[in-house]
Amino acid sequence: MTVTRASAPRAVQAATQAISATGLRKSYGDKTVLDGIDLTVPAGTVFALLGPNGAGKTTAVKILSTLITPGADSGEIRVGGHDLATDPQAIRAAIGVTGQFSAVDGLITGEENMLLMADLHHLSKREGRRVAAELLERFDLAEAAKKPASTYSGGMKRRLDIAMTLVGGPRIIFLDEPTTGLDPRSRHTMWGIIRELVADGVTVFLTTQYLEEADELADRIAVLNDGKIAAEGSAEELKRIVPGGHVKLRFTDPDAYRSAASTLREAAPDEEALALRIPSDGSQRELRSILDWLDSAGVEADELTVHTPDLDDVFFALTASTVPAQNDQPKENAR
Ligand SMILES: Nc1ncnc2c1ncn2[C@@H]1O[C@H](COP(=O)(O)OP(=O)(O)OP(=O)(O)O)[C@@H](O)[C@H]1O
Ligand SMILES: [Mg+2]
Repeated sequence: MTVTRASAPRAVQAATQAISATGLRKSYGDKTVLDGIDLTVPAGTVFALLGPNGAGKTTAVKILSTLITPGADSGEIRVGGHDLATDPQAIRAAIGVTGQFSAVDGLITGEENMLLMADLHHLSKREGRRVAAELLERFDLAEAAKKPASTYSGGMKRRLDIAMTLVGGPRIIFLDEPTTGLDPRSRHTMWGIIRELVADGVTVFLTTQYLEEADELADRIAVLNDGKIAAEGSAEELKRIVPGGHVKLRFTDPDAYRSAASTLREAAPDEEALALRIPSDGSQRELRSILDWLDSAGVEADELTVHTPDLDDVFFALTASTVPAQNDQPKENAR
């Protein structure tokens, strides 16, 4: 029997896009958090949503994972091939969510936390024990399994958090700042875990404050700012947005910093760090002219470093409008 359906392209698209959202909106009172953003995450890839504090990353994760409802004027949202408006239950069955704040219950052991999740997923007692043991082993928590989770280190709790998320065998997982607060070694362990998931074909939607993390893991990165996607692309594509690197001048004396900032009006100020950034391609010729310029302006920085563009630059460039808020002087170079 041949079945021909007009909706075939949609079905094909649903199979390849793990997540798609158009015109995603959310407001709290008169505060617009998400102002109509579009997202698509192909199945089996890692998508990183970046943005400064309060940009709306967690809000986006909560909407896509059905924990809160989108604004009524949002467009279509599909996760795992299911329509969020009509079939949130099917989405819940297909996904796993590790929230920004731990879901681990400290009063019970790591193993008990896992078995609780197995119960929630209606696994049989036997199957629950098998899955829990397997994941505890995989996340290097077997030894600590019988200890109260409150005695775990931050990294162990985060690993347990993700292990709990995986109990139901989700094909799409949301990780809201999976490595915030972890030391570099634990962060690398977590990256390894995420890479393994992806190697198994799982789709990962993560949020992060660490550009290095997005650079390491993500196939595509979107920078959220002011309720909109300020830029989206691969790490390499995003780096190309920033035309060149910069020279960073640091001062230890706030007065010296202020006087330099008022002299070098082309430089982007970072008041907190007492630093000024001067756009530069890092070439010898440009460095020489910058140094000459500083000499003639009588500016003497305590430290001078040359930066080639990285994701941090992209992030600062795209989210600059939120930084100079405390500055009452309008800036010519503000974007
Ligand atoms: N339930 C709520 N009621 C009112 N405002 C809210 C609520 N939840 C979030 N907000 C506001 O929405 C904005 C976005 O919050 P959200 O938690 O999504 O940001 P975020 O990007 O995850 O930030 P962070 O990096 O700090 O985790 C913030 O201004 C926040 O105060
Ligand atoms: Mg958040």
